Amino acid sequence: MLKAIYPGSFDPVTMGHWDLIQRAEKLVDHLVVAVLHNPAKHPAFSVAERVDFLRELVKPYDNVVVTTFHGLLVDFAKEQEAQCIIRGVRAFSDFEYEFQMALMNRKLHPDLETVFLMPKEEFSELSSRMVREVGMMGGDITGFVPESLRERIAARLRNPGNYA
Ligand code: PNS
Repeated sequence: MLKAIYPGSFDPVTMGHWDLIQRAEKLVDHLVVAVLHNPAKHPAFSVAERVDFLRELVKPYDNVVVTTFHGLLVDFAKEQEAQCIIRGVRAFSDFEYEFQMALMNRKLHPDLETVFLMPKEEFSELSSRMVREVGMMGGDITGFVPESLRERIAARLRNPGNYA
């Protein structure tokens, strides 16, 4: 049984993340989408909101669960008895950071493999940071986030003070 963890901030989930979840889900028996709980990061969306959005998306998939983690990813992977980490690489610019992180994780936990997947080309310029910026300034985020979540994400970005 192959169990993988797809970790991230998901602040908020984008079409790129969603594309990656659907690709990863086909490759493994169990996929754990893990939202980093890091209060020091001052996220735009609370952990509960980010988890809710993801849970709504993965509802049709029996082999995908959404949860949170804090501390080291390798410790969470051990606790989950997962064999691999899934990370998305959109462009060459992502590579250096991802490579460093994968090598550090390998030093900390040599048996844990990092598997890189590429999202669809049309999402290669997309990031949570850009969604936040466009949304906070009242721009249209259609096509950047899953359509079923668009209105809620847009409304929340227009009212950043209304923190859950
Ligand atoms: O979506 P992001 O913000 O690029 O995800 C980054 C994440 C959550 C995968 C990374 O920051 C992480 O794993 N944090 C947990 C702390 C950790 O294990 N650090 C050591 C790896 S360098």
